[in-house]
Amino acid sequence: MSCYSFATLRKSPALLSLTATERHVTLIWKVGVMITAEKPTRTPRHIQTERGCVTICGPVEGADILRYQMDEGLCAFRLPKEQQEALAEIARLPEGQVILALHDEQIIGYVTFHRPEEFERWAHDQVPGMLELGAIETSKRWRGLHIGRHLLEVAFGEGALEPYVIIATEYYWHWDLKGAGLSVWEYQKFLESLFNRVGLRRVGTDEPDILAHPANMLMARVGRLVPQESVLLFEESLYQNRWMF
Ligand SMILES: CC(C)(COP(=O)(O)OP(=O)(O)OC[C@H]1O[C@@H](n2cnc3c(N)ncnc32)[C@H](O)[C@@H]1OP(=O)(O)O)[C@@H](O)C(=O)NCCC(=O)NCCS
Repeated sequence: MSCYSFATLRKSPALLSLTATERHVTLIWKVGVMITAEKPTRTPRHIQTERGCVTICGPVEGADILRYQMDEGLCAFRLPKEQQEALAEIARLPEGQVILALHDEQIIGYVTFHRPEEFERWAHDQVPGMLELGAIETSKRWRGLHIGRHLLEVAFGEGALEPYVIIATEYYWHWDLKGAGLSVWEYQKFLESLFNRVGLRRVGTDEPDILAHPANMLMARVGRLVPQESVLLFEESLYQNRWMF
C-alpha cells in the first residue's frame, strides 16, 4: 500500500501495534484489520543548483548504492569508499532507509535512517516503531546549495515516516566545525534549525553521551501514526536516572 493510504487512517485511535520486516511495515488495528506497507519510495525531486541538476531519491537498495560513484567530498564520517559500503549496509537492514542526492550518477549527499543500535537505550525492543536519523551529509563541494534541506524534506515527505518516532543523537564530535568555519554553538544552532524544518525538536534526556557535552542534543519527532503506547514508552525512556535529581 502507498504511504498516501496511511493519511486516511492516521486519526484512528484503533492502532494496536506496529512491526516491521526488511521490506514491510505492518500495522495491526484493534478492529482486526491488518495493513502492510513497503518501505515507501519517495517521489524523486529534481533541483536546479548553480552546479547543475541534482536528484533526491530513495530509499535506494544496497546494490544500487554501490553502482554509483561516491563524491570525494563525502568524508565527514569515513573515507568516501568506506562510507559508501556503510550506506549499502544500512539500506539492507530491516527498516534501513538511505535517501540519496545524485548528480551525474554520483552520490553527492545522503541521509540515513535505521533502528537504534542494540546498545542504545532506544533499542528497538524497548520502544517499538522507532528509527534513528543516523547521519546526513552533503559533499564539501556541494554545501550551502540546499541539498541537505531537500534530502530531509524528501525523506520526511509523503507521510513516509509518520508511523515512526524519529530520533537524531547529535554529538558535537561528529560535526565538521572546521569545514563549516563555525563555532560549536553556531553549528549546534545551524543543525537544530535545519532539523526543525522537518519537525524534529530538541528534547531533554539524561542519556549519558548526550549529557557529556552541553552542545550535544537529542532531537525527536513523533509521527502522527505512532501508537500512544509507543509514545509513552519513548517519553519514559528519556529519563532513566531520576534518582539523580
Ligand atoms: C549538515 C549538512 C548536511 C548541511 O548540508 P547543506 O547541503 O550544506 O545544507 P543546506 O544548504 O540545505 O543548508 C540548510 C540551512 O543551513 C544553513 N547553512 C548551511 N551551511 C551553513 C553554515 N556553514 N553556516 C550557517 N548556516 C548554514 C543554510 O543557509 C540553510 O538555511 P536556509 O534554508 O534558511 O537558507 C552539511 O553541512 C554536512 O554534510 N556537514 C557534515 C556532516 C554533519 O555535520 N552532519 C550532521 C550531523 S549527522
